[in-house]
Formats: sequence, C-alpha cells, structure tokens
Amino acid sequence: MSSLLIHNIGMLATPEGTEAHRGPAQGQLRVLENAWIYTENGRIVSFGSGEPPLTAEEKLDAGGRLVTPGLVDAHTHLIFGGWRQNELAMKIRNVPYLDILASGGGILSTVKATHAATEAELTNKAATALDEMMRFGTTTCEAKSGYGLCKDEELKQLRVIRKLNETHPMDVAATFMGAHALPPEYKENREGYLKLLCEEIIPAVAQEKLARFCDVFCETGVFTAEESRQVLECGKEYGLIPKIHADEIDPIGGSQLAGQIGAISAEHLIVCPDEGIASMARGGTIACLLPATSFYLNSTYAPARKMIEQGVPVALASDYNPGSCPCLNLQLVMNIACLKYRLTPEEVLTGVTLNAAAAIGMAELVGSVDRAKQADLVIWDAPDLNYLCYRLGSNLAHTVIKKGVLYHG
Ligand code: NIG
Ligand code: FE
Repeated sequence: MSSLLIHNIGMLATPEGTEAHRGPAQGQLRVLENAWIYTENGRIVSFGSGEPPLTAEEKLDAGGRLVTPGLVDAHTHLIFGGWRQNELAMKIRNVPYLDILASGGGILSTVKATHAATEAELTNKAATALDEMMRFGTTTCEAKSGYGLCKDEELKQLRVIRKLNETHPMDVAATFMGAHALPPEYKENREGYLKLLCEEIIPAVAQEKLARFCDVFCETGVFTAEESRQVLECGKEYGLIPKIHADEIDPIGGSQLAGQIGAISAEHLIVCPDEGIASMARGGTIACLLPATSFYLNSTYAPARKMIEQGVPVALASDYNPGSCPCLNLQLVMNIACLKYRLTPEEVLTGVTLNAAAAIGMAELVGSVDRAKQADLVIWDAPDLNYLCYRLGSNLAHTVIKKGVLYHG
C-alpha cells in the first residue's frame, strides 16, 4: 500500500459529487481553508481542514497554496500528423474557416498528413502533447479520431488513443469521429460515405471496442442535421454514446438534435439558438464549450450564461487541434471563459473538472475531491481560485498529481 498526505493546503476548492452540476449549483464549490488530503493507492480516502488527524508514508507540504481536482479536458482532436501554420496568413486575411476546408485545405490537409504518419509517429507526437497538458494541470482528457475518414485510418487513430490510455499516465477517453468531414473521393456520393460509416466503420470500431463515444461535425458544407442524426443513431445501436459538434459556425439544428437524441454533450455551440438550449436542457445534454476556439477563429462566444440560467450544465475544454485551436492549456481556457462568457471562477472550475468529467462519462472516477475518487490533484502557484483565473499567460501548475503519483508543473 502507498499513502500520501498533502497538508498545509491554503485553499482546497472543488465541486462535489458524481454528476454534472447545472444552474446555480454550477457555481457552488466546497471550499476548505488550511486543508489536507489523504490518499491511498492512488485514491482519495479522506480530507478536511485543520491539523491532519493521521500521517502517511509520503508527506507533501502544499506551502499554503491552492489545490483543486486535476483538470479534465473533455474535447481534443489529439491525434494528427503535421501542423497548419500555413493557415495563419489566410486567417489574418479573414479567409473563413469553412472556405479553407471547401478548397481542400483545413481538416482535409491534416487528413493527408495523418495518413502519411505511422502509428508509432502519431503515438509519440500525441504523447508529447499529453506531457504538455499534464504540465498545465490536465490529468484526464478525451481524444477523437477524425483525420482518417476511411476504415483503416480511423482504426489506426483509435488504436493510438487506446495505446496512449494504456501507457501514458493521463486517462484518455476515446471518441470515434469518422464523420468529421466528407472525404474528397465521396464529394459526389454523400450517401456512399454515410453507408461506409454505418455499415463498415462503426461496426468495426464497436467490435474492437475502440471508442466509447461517437461524434459528428454538424455544419454547413460538412454534415447536415439529418445526416448527423443517421450517424449518431447508428453509433447508438452499436453502443457508442452520441456527442455532436453543433452550432460552431452556422446554427443548422445540431443543438436541437443533441437534446432529441440524448447526446451526452454538444460541443462548441457558439451560435446556439434558444431552441437548442431548451432542447439540451430537456435532453440532459452537457454544453461542452470551447472558448479558446472562439478566440482563435476570431468569432463570437457561446451564450454560456444563458445556458447556465436555463439549466444546461456547462463544461469547458480546449478543442486542441491543428486548425481551429492549437492550444493545450486549460488555464487559458479558464481565463477566456471568465472574461468572455462572464462565468465566475467557481462556475469555471466546475466546467473544467466535474462537468467535464461527466461529459466523458467519468464523473464517478475523476473531476472532484471526493472519497474513493482517483487522487488526481493540482497544487497551484496561487493562493486562491480568483488568482488562478485572473493571471494570464503563465503556467501556474506547481505540482500535478495523477493517481497519487507526483508530476511537476
Ligand atoms: O472542433 N470543427 C471541427 N473540428 C475541429 C477543427 C478541426 C480542424 O480544423 O482540424 C473543431 O474546431
Ligand atoms: Fe472539435
């Protein structure tokens, strides 16, 4: 047995429980001052404030700092070959994201670079990204396929995710996103690609148990709401839980669909209409918002306050990908969520911990400091939560703890 006692915690801030928090509860945290946490074999056993009533094999003095649960990044496109720095000049000239895609660039250029990379190359590259995420305080993440767009290449990406989950300290939840773009060879044959997804690729993903979730890019020029429904319903039949990229650029019905089919989360929601919010509230869908993408696309920001008011739980994630958000830093996401969404630091913390964990079906295990959850914690170079959300551009992660093991920020 290995035990760890973290003591002299200036402030312990955490949401509580194993379910997403909505409405006013999103902003309600457990806050303990002068606190301690005791863990055994990588799990939280007890915590409290005042003098710790017990000792452990290993003792860690938090030096009066802030401690929170390890951050959870519920939306990344972690596995890809190459980069797209050539698009920066186009962005500066205001060439729209969807125009770059329609001209064969964007996602489709990353598809080429990902096909050209071996499984080992993709694994190494993504492992480096996971290392960086951990240095910024992320201890659990989600990762999507979607730069394959054919059976072998989608399976290749998902096998990389599985391998990383097995070998890297980060917990990595896998999402199949074969419906990320229409492959150019199917340009005149949309039904052909939907058929391939539903009749060949999804069954193969399910058979190898390579993913837990199925995601679709529901967007103008990509997949319509009806096509998205078809793919997600098919995924459901094979046991894949639906997620959906909705209302990122145009509101074409994605958020309404999310609530109707009981998607666990809907992503982006930058231009989410009121009916979409109402549908998600009815369906119990979590809004997974990606404020760094709004920043990077120079677009508007999702109506996060309205979502909280209407009882939709809000999770916050990076959207790490080579096109619309090459960013691994959830601290930056927290800053932007405060300043642009006008969320409070308490609402933001719930968004990057418990609600994010719920958005990837892991809230029983991670996302809060609660008894029996994994000892995934961050000691911050910050005296309190306000300071963490207020400072900009520094990495304030001092010590990152994953399953009771120490990594440094
Ligand atoms: O979530 N919108 C679709 N997918 C990603 C972007 C992927 C890319 O540009 O490579 C996103 O923004
Ligand atoms: Fe995305």
